Amino acid sequence: MKNFIIFLFTISVLAGCGRDNPAPNDPCQGVSVTVTGTTSNPSGTSANGSIMASASGSTGPYSYSINGGSFQVSNQFTNLAAGSYTIVAKSAAGCTGNATFTLTATSPCAGVNIIITPTVTGTTPCVNGSGFISVSATGGAAPYLYSINNGAFQSTSSFQGLNNGTYQFVVKDSNGCTATLTGVTVASRAEGPKFAAVKALIQANCVSCHNATNSSGGINLSTDCNIVAAKDRIKARAVDGNPSPMPSGGLLPASERQKISDWITAGGRVID
Ligand code: HEC
Repeated sequence: MKNFIIFLFTISVLAGCGRDNPAPNDPCQGVSVTVTGTTSNPSGTSANGSIMASASGSTGPYSYSINGGSFQVSNQFTNLAAGSYTIVAKSAAGCTGNATFTLTATSPCAGVNIIITPTVTGTTPCVNGSGFISVSATGGAAPYLYSINNGAFQSTSSFQGLNNGTYQFVVKDSNGCTATLTGVTVASRAEGPKFAAVKALIQANCVSCHNATNSSGGINLSTDCNIVAAKDRIKARAVDGNPSPMPSGGLLPASERQKISDWITAGGRVID
C-alpha cells in the first residue's frame, strides 16, 4: 500500500511539469520553436568553427544554449572544433526548441590555389651551369618552401647553376598546401651583336689557318666556345700585334680591330 501511494505521486509530478503535457494556461501550448543556423566549419584541428543560430515560432527575445550549457543572449557560438552541437533556443515565455548542427573539419588547403611564377635567366653559352630560375609564390600562407625537380624543400626561392633543360617546381606553404609547376625551360641566351661581329671577322680572316684540322699555334677558332676561350690571345695578336700581328700578313683594318676590343670590353661572352 505504501509503494502504491509513492507511485501515484510520481505520476502526478510528471504530468504537472512537462511541456509535452501542458496545463490549460501553459503559454507554450501549441507553440513550436524552430531553431535554424548558419555554420562555418573549422579548418583542420583548429577550433575556429562557428554556429549562428536563429529561432522563430514564439516571441523573443530568445536566449540560446549549446550542448546543455547555460542560456545566453547571443545567438553566436564561436571557437568550435569539429563535432555535433545541439542548440536550444528559449523564447521570452520560456518555450524551447532545438536543432543539432554538425561541424566538419575542412582541409586547410581547400580552396587554396598557390600560383607559382618563374623568372628564368637562360644559360650563357660556353659557361657551364650559368642558368638561373627564381620562383615566386602567391595564394597560400607564407612562408613558402621551394623544391626543384623533387629535391629537398628549401626556403630560398632562387635556383642557380642550372644548365639547359626543363625543370619542375613544388612550392609548399606554411599549412603544408602544395602546388606544382612543370615545364619550366632553361635555354641558351641569344648571341650578342658584338660577339656576332667578331665571329664573322674571325671566320673571314682567321679560320682558314685556325680550325679543327689545321690549328696553327694550337688555336682552333671554328667554334663559339673556342673564340671565347682564346679572347685574350685574339686581342693580343689581332688588335695589339703582340708579339706579332695576326693575320701574319699585317693587322686588320682599325674598324675590324675595334670590333674585337668592343666585344672584350663588353664582357667577351657569346651573349655580348
Ligand atoms: C695564314 C694563316 C693564318 C691566319 C690567316 C691567321 N693565323 Fe693565327 N697563327 C698562324 C700561325 C702559323 C701561328 C703560329 C705561329 C705564331 O704564333 O705566330 C698562329 C698563331 C696564332 C695564335 C696562337 C699564338 C698566341 O699568340 O697565342 C693566335 C691566338 C692566333 N694565331 C690568332 C689569329 C687570329 C685572331 C687571326 C685572324 C684575325 C689569325 N690568327 C689568322 C697562322 C695564321
